[in-house]
Amino acid sequence: MIIEPRMRGFICLTAHPEGCEQNVKNQIAYIQSKGAISGAKKVLVIGASTGFGLASRITSAFGSDAATIGVFFEKPPLEGKTASPGWYNSAAFEKEAHKAGLYAKSINGDAFSNEIKRETLDLIKADLGQVDLVIYSLASPVRTNPNTGILHRSVLKPIGQTFTNKTVDFHTGNVSEVSIAPANEEDIANTVAVMGGEDWKMWMDALKAENLLAEGATTVAYSYIGPSLTEAVYRKGTIGRAKDDLEATAFTITDSLKDLGGKAYVSVNKALVTQASSAIPVIPLYISLLYKIMKAEGIHEGCIEQIQRLFKDRLYSGSDVPTDEKGRIRIDDWEMRDDVQAKVAQLWLEATTETLPAIGDLAGYKNDFLNLFGFAFEGVDYEADTSELVGIESIK
Ligand code: NAI
Ligand code: NA
Repeated sequence: MIIEPRMRGFICLTAHPEGCEQNVKNQIAYIQSKGAISGAKKVLVIGASTGFGLASRITSAFGSDAATIGVFFEKPPLEGKTASPGWYNSAAFEKEAHKAGLYAKSINGDAFSNEIKRETLDLIKADLGQVDLVIYSLASPVRTNPNTGILHRSVLKPIGQTFTNKTVDFHTGNVSEVSIAPANEEDIANTVAVMGGEDWKMWMDALKAENLLAEGATTVAYSYIGPSLTEAVYRKGTIGRAKDDLEATAFTITDSLKDLGGKAYVSVNKALVTQASSAIPVIPLYISLLYKIMKAEGIHEGCIEQIQRLFKDRLYSGSDVPTDEKGRIRIDDWEMRDDVQAKVAQLWLEATTETLPAIGDLAGYKNDFLNLFGFAFEGVDYEADTSELVGIESIK
C-alpha cells in the first residue's frame, strides 16, 4: 500500500517501513563515518527502538561491534495497518546488524513487568552470559508497578502555581498562550513512579542477582535539565521530580555495584524532537528556537550525534568520565552555552505566529517530527507501493 502520514494531535498514526529503514541506515552510516569506539561488547538497551535508546543501540553495534539485546514496547503491523515506527526501526536495525555479522535480538513488551524482565534475563543467560553495559532509555506515560499492580500515570505539570507561557502547535505554526494548573501530591508521586529511578533499580538488581553483569559493568540513564524558560513545566515540574529521583538512583545503583567495580551514570542530554518531547507543552517552541540558533552556530546535533559524543568523548574516551558537581555526564553542554541561551531568551520574547517562521526553525521541527515516523527522508520513494507487514528477524 501507499503509506502517508496521518496526524492526530501529538502523534502520527502511520509509519513508513522504508523510511524508518532509511533513518536507521543514516544513523549507522554516521557512526561508521566517525570511526571505532573502544566501548562495551555486550549491551542491553531498555527502550531501544526510538530516540536516544535506538541511537545507543546503533552506536554500540556499529561503533564497537557490540552484541545487543533491545527491549521496547511497539505495535507490530497488521494487514492494512502499519506498525509503530520503533517496530520498523528495530526490524531495520536487526537486518543491518545481522548483515554485519553482529548478534542482535529484541524483546517486545512491557519493560516494567516481571515477565519481560524474566524473558530478558533468560536471553542474556542463554546467549551472552553477561552484559557490560545497560542503557536505560524508557519514556512512557504509564507504568504498572509489578509488585503492587497499581497503574501510575505521569503528568506534565508545574508544582506550586499555575504556569502560563507561550507554546506552539508545530503542525499549524500557531503560537498561543498556555496555562497549566499545578500538580497535586498524587500527580507528583505518580510521575516519579513512572519516570523516576525505581524501575531502573529493579532491572539492575535483577541482573546482578543472577550474575548477569560483567566486572566493571556500566549503566546509563538519560535525563534533561534545560533553561529557566522551561523550568516551571520541566525541571521544577512533575517530570523534574522524576528526573531528580532518577539522578539520585544512579548513586544507589553505583553503591550496589561496588563489589563488581560497576558504575551507574545519568547523562543529561540535549532537547530533541522525539515522540516523548513533542507531547510536552512549551518545549516544541523552545526547541524550534534552539534549533535555529544551534544550526546557525554549526553545533546542532540529533540523537545519533549526541550519543556518539557520549560514548566516544565521555564514557569510552580512555580517561575518567567527566561529570558535573552532581555526578552527571553533560552532553547538553552546547545547548546550555551562555551565548546560545541568551539568543534563545531574546527570540522567545519576539516569538509570535507571524514571526516564528523566520526566527524559529519550525520547518526543521516538522521535518524531524515526520522523520520519527519514517517520513520526509531523501532517497525514499513515498509514491511507491510498499508492504506494511515487515517482521523483526529475532521475533517469531
Ligand atoms: P522515545 O519515546 O523516543 O523512546 C522511548 C523508548 O521507550 C522506546 O523504545 C519505547 O518503545 C520504549 N518504551 C516505552 N514504554 C515502554 C515499556 N512500557 N516497555 C518497554 N519499552 C517501552 O523517547 P526519548 O526521547 O528517546 O527518551 C528516552 C529518555 O531520554 C527519557 O528518559 C527522556 O526523558 C530522556 N531525554 C529526552 C530528551 C528529549 O528531548 N527527547 C532530552 C533529554 C533526555
Ligand atoms: Na529511547
